Amino acid sequence: MSFSQEFFTLNNGNKIPAISIIGTGTKWHHGKLESGKFSDELVDQLQYALTLPGIIHIDAAEMYNTYPEVNKALKSTSKVRDEIFITDKYYSGSPKLTENPIAGLTKSLKELELDYVDLYLLHSPFITKESCGYTMEEAWKQMEKLYKDGKAKNIGVSNFSVDDLKRILKICEIKPQINQIEFNAFLQNQTPGIVKFCQDHDILVEAYSPLGPLRKKPTDRDPGPFYQYIEELAKKYGKSEGQVLLRWVTKRKILPITTSGKEERIKDAQDLFSFDLTSEEVEKITKLGLAHEPSRLYWKNNYSQFDSESQKV
Ligand SMILES: NC(=O)c1ccc[n+]([C@@H]2O[C@H](COP(=O)([O-])OP(=O)(O)OC[C@H]3O[C@@H](n4cnc5c(N)ncnc54)[C@H](OP(=O)(O)O)[C@@H]3O)[C@@H](O)[C@H]2O)c1
Repeated sequence: MSFSQEFFTLNNGNKIPAISIIGTGTKWHHGKLESGKFSDELVDQLQYALTLPGIIHIDAAEMYNTYPEVNKALKSTSKVRDEIFITDKYYSGSPKLTENPIAGLTKSLKELELDYVDLYLLHSPFITKESCGYTMEEAWKQMEKLYKDGKAKNIGVSNFSVDDLKRILKICEIKPQINQIEFNAFLQNQTPGIVKFCQDHDILVEAYSPLGPLRKKPTDRDPGPFYQYIEELAKKYGKSEGQVLLRWVTKRKILPITTSGKEERIKDAQDLFSFDLTSEEVEKITKLGLAHEPSRLYWKNNYSQFDSESQKV
């Protein structure tokens, strides 16, 4: 079987594998204060992912409490470090898990037994002097130091709105390379105008929850035109419906982050570039998705007030 992989180029010139096939949050996440939990199933899926061809992009975070599983999988793989791309995130919510981004990455590198991560993100913009002891701008300055020290090869943010990004762009010496947000056909803007703003400013958007529509697919009735079209494309290309949706995300110049407890789905995600969608097909998925009611799965307390605007592009 021939294998091909695609990459996005970041605003600092670095390359990033165009899909992350194994996120270690959502279905694996142990809860930030639950210590001592360990998922052998997650280790198995990570180990499996690391046997696949190409660079394997793993998405991790302080908040997920899954570093022990990632560490175990990394220790047992024969894949070289250059063929693994690791994202980590600093959690600034309450209570904080570590004092600040520098302390956070220092601790996670120790737990993961790594010298650097490929990408380090501020997990959310909810950072204030009152709640954290430092401002969002001061947190970004720490991210820049980690970048300059080579501890994080790329830096970025997650769940940031246009206003949050404008604050960073005003003070930054190093621009964020990434904004990781919720994005799928049923939620094409986590916050108003965010995708266009990032793309206009050369900040790569990463999409978590890219398969949101499949998780919502009705099984007790005709699922409607969006799902019928995804089924039609899956049949046409001999691919899964999940692959069609992930490929659509990449065709929107957005990097999907998926995960699965099933080897077949992890393999399918890494094999994403074995087929392509035409620009007409991409546009039709976009339009049918926009016509569907918005569906937000994460950070609802913070962002559900934007639901009605999430399908305006
Ligand atoms: N920065 C943030 O705030 C943030 C928030 C959320 C997530 N994330 C990151 O993004 C990663 C992925 O997020 P996600 O879990 O929302 O991604 P996703 O790719 O949208 O969903 C993955 C889930 O979809 C299920 N699935 C796959 N194909 C399906 C199908 N045909 N029908 C029904 N279900 C299907 C999988 O179940 P199976 O296991 O059964 O295959 C899995 O539980 C997380 O692990 C985390 O690393 C970041």
